[in-house]
Amino acid sequence: MRFGFFDDPNLEYVITRPDTPLPWINYMGMENYFGIISNTAGGYSFYKDARLRRLTRYRYNNAPLDEGGRYVYLRDNAAPLPAYWSASWQPVREALDAYECRHGLGYTTITAEKSGIRSRITYFIPLKDNLEIWRLEITNLRDVAADVSIFSAVEFCLWDAMDDATNFQRNLNIGEVEVEDGIIYHKTEYRERRNHFAYFACSEPLTGFDTSREAFLGPYRGWDKPLAVEHGQCGNSIAHGWQPVGVNHNRIVLSPGETRVVIYLLGYHENDENAKFDPKGSNTIDKTTVRPAIDRYRQPAVVEEAFNTLGSYWRELLSKFQVETPELHANRMVNIWNTYQIMVTYNFSRSASYFESGIGRGMGFRDSTQDLLGFVHLLPEKARMRLLDLAATQLPDGGAYHQYQPMTKLGNHDIGGNFSDDPLWLVLATAAYLKETGDWTILDESVPFDNKAGTEAPLFEHLRRSMQYTLDRIGPHGLPLIGRADWNDCLNLNSFSDTPGQSFQTVTAKDGKVAESVFVAALFILAAREMEQIASRLGKQADVEYYARYRAQFEDAIDTAGWDGAWFRRAYDDFGLPVGSFENEEGQIFIEPQGMCVMAGIGIEDGRAEKALDAVAEHLAFQHGIVLLYPAFKRYHLSMGEISSYPPGYKENGSVFCHSNPWIMIAETRIGRGDHALDYYLRINPSAREDLSDIHRCEPYVYAQTIGGKESATPGLAKNSWLTGTAAWNFVAITQWIMGIRPAYDGLIVNPVIPASWSGFKAVRYFRGTRYDIEVKREGPGNRVTLFVDGNKCEENMIPLPVDQPDMIMVNVVIG
Ligand code: BGC
Ligand code: NOJ
Repeated sequence: MRFGFFDDPNLEYVITRPDTPLPWINYMGMENYFGIISNTAGGYSFYKDARLRRLTRYRYNNAPLDEGGRYVYLRDNAAPLPAYWSASWQPVREALDAYECRHGLGYTTITAEKSGIRSRITYFIPLKDNLEIWRLEITNLRDVAADVSIFSAVEFCLWDAMDDATNFQRNLNIGEVEVEDGIIYHKTEYRERRNHFAYFACSEPLTGFDTSREAFLGPYRGWDKPLAVEHGQCGNSIAHGWQPVGVNHNRIVLSPGETRVVIYLLGYHENDENAKFDPKGSNTIDKTTVRPAIDRYRQPAVVEEAFNTLGSYWRELLSKFQVETPELHANRMVNIWNTYQIMVTYNFSRSASYFESGIGRGMGFRDSTQDLLGFVHLLPEKARMRLLDLAATQLPDGGAYHQYQPMTKLGNHDIGGNFSDDPLWLVLATAAYLKETGDWTILDESVPFDNKAGTEAPLFEHLRRSMQYTLDRIGPHGLPLIGRADWNDCLNLNSFSDTPGQSFQTVTAKDGKVAESVFVAALFILAAREMEQIASRLGKQADVEYYARYRAQFEDAIDTAGWDGAWFRRAYDDFGLPVGSFENEEGQIFIEPQGMCVMAGIGIEDGRAEKALDAVAEHLAFQHGIVLLYPAFKRYHLSMGEISSYPPGYKENGSVFCHSNPWIMIAETRIGRGDHALDYYLRINPSAREDLSDIHRCEPYVYAQTIGGKESATPGLAKNSWLTGTAAWNFVAITQWIMGIRPAYDGLIVNPVIPASWSGFKAVRYFRGTRYDIEVKREGPGNRVTLFVDGNKCEENMIPLPVDQPDMIMVNVVIG
């Protein structure tokens, strides 16, 4: 069952009924001001940091779902009894005669019709300014005049979202607002330590306003039945403490057929510390620097231009890589939605979504480094900055803070470090950046450790220490020690947590000198290959040999201790016993080492790779994807940690943990099985699952982190959509390995491993300033590649870097 449809030419997903199984959300903002918005206008806004600078309130986990948003109430003033509804269905939930939500790239448009009044609101954030625009177009479809009241409403958050949700004894006292020239200003704490405030403005003269929530809603009423809307009149209330809101009331009369545009602006502004007040010495906000933006964006023509600029920005970004394959779901995801989701993960890492509160986690080290693999071709400049920011949170021993706050860019002490995989991703991300851009200067950038002045070292030295972090922590089987966790945050082999409420990731009961990770050994091998390549291009021969030596050592360790007979083992626990082995009762086979070991090239020559991937097909794959492990843990194992705390088939305990599925797709291409790779790709591709929307429940236009596994009570049910490494990795799997278009240090590789049924495909990809027009034709059933560059046959599968910089290169590929 579906709840909408894809409108590919307009780059939109169109939702045709408001009661989707979950709020289906979208993101707005690209620079500093951001917002999330659902298909019924729920969501919130923030400046830079969803925790520290939250502008509006949102109530997670509430009933009804999705409370708090950007609400517009419409009231028919001529109706005999009070008649009002929401232009986005929520929060009033009055049945509408027509409803449609279009989620586009960086904007959302919601159309509603009721009793001959049509509203269409487009919400978006212009590229450069710190505000969001709600452009309301209201039309009278009746053949008589319509007397309509419009109430637009937001509830302000008192900035720090954590404090806002917990510290009521203070917060109910501090709320402050100003209303001047019909503009509502939210200025809590501005009088003393803050120099920023929010505002809510409107292009039309106000009939009235409210800034006190209780005055607007009425005592003991909810957002679904505001008293002011029922009465058709605001009380011009001024909030003193309690809950400050911004409500504009506009009463308008529309003649038959008339359309009116009303613009609302919700914005954030900072004043200079010394120019906060006007007059000086008062407590009144100095508005001189904020008014120009407000006055400008109140003009419909300016709004239209900003909206068009946003559209061009996205079209331009998408144009960097466009494909045309026989598979609609691949085209749609690669060309539009997967790319878009990757940009969202770039902006938000794992901080703010419908499933991430914006409070709990900032920017993850391993998360952001992997996200970069997906967006580096789109915004190399931003990738460069991100790499340097991440490296600056690295510790001198090469380890890394697991997370940092986007506002301060400082490592998060609550969670700390010692996640064994974190530093290695920095190497892989930097390698991806080098291959994409050829910008070797980044390796000389001077970057501090732990953001401490005086500790600076070139980025290349950070990479070395990343590698050394693993080498300094090797366990009894010659494999890397697992630390608090490796990529799988829930495989906590040193935690032994038995106290409710403890964080499995931060509690360590063991000395950590026994439990080891096969996965990290394979990850190290991948990273070592890149270090060898990088060092050899820098002429650092000793480094090349050093990493080659340890790479070989880990290859041996995996051979002797990592192979279980029919698949790769996952780890060794604190007792030195294998995890992910046929010897285990539960958790006999895990997905991660099958993917990562084959990606690292292990077992490809001797048939173990094929065996391992056959075992994946047999034990882990089912119709909704590939589960993380099998059999799932049915009871809690003190020595395994959080993984066995989840009910079977959920999250890390045997759901389809989508992030790890593309590793298997890539591994399948490594052994030449394009059919298998694409099959797995389609099982979790959200667009390909659109028909299952009633089962899948999450948005059909973006990947979710997890899909209920075969042992769960709800196989196929997705959760935790949007902010997941799944976005970047699926993009890498389909474009770089199945389609085989892969940047390398010295050129662009084209080495497709596509299904037998594909007759070929076309792609346009920009690479180091040149447009590559690639056309692949299948002439036989195999994967052998013959490559022609501008008509000339190439000896390898790689297009060497051109000597001059041509605008365009034509690439013809024959496979068979
Ligand atoms: C989740 C993991 C996540 C971790 C982050 C766990 O509860 O299951 O997916 O990585 O929390 O702290
Ligand atoms: C989600 C986390 O964000 C990511 O860092 C981790 O690798 C996966 N969960 C697996 O546990």
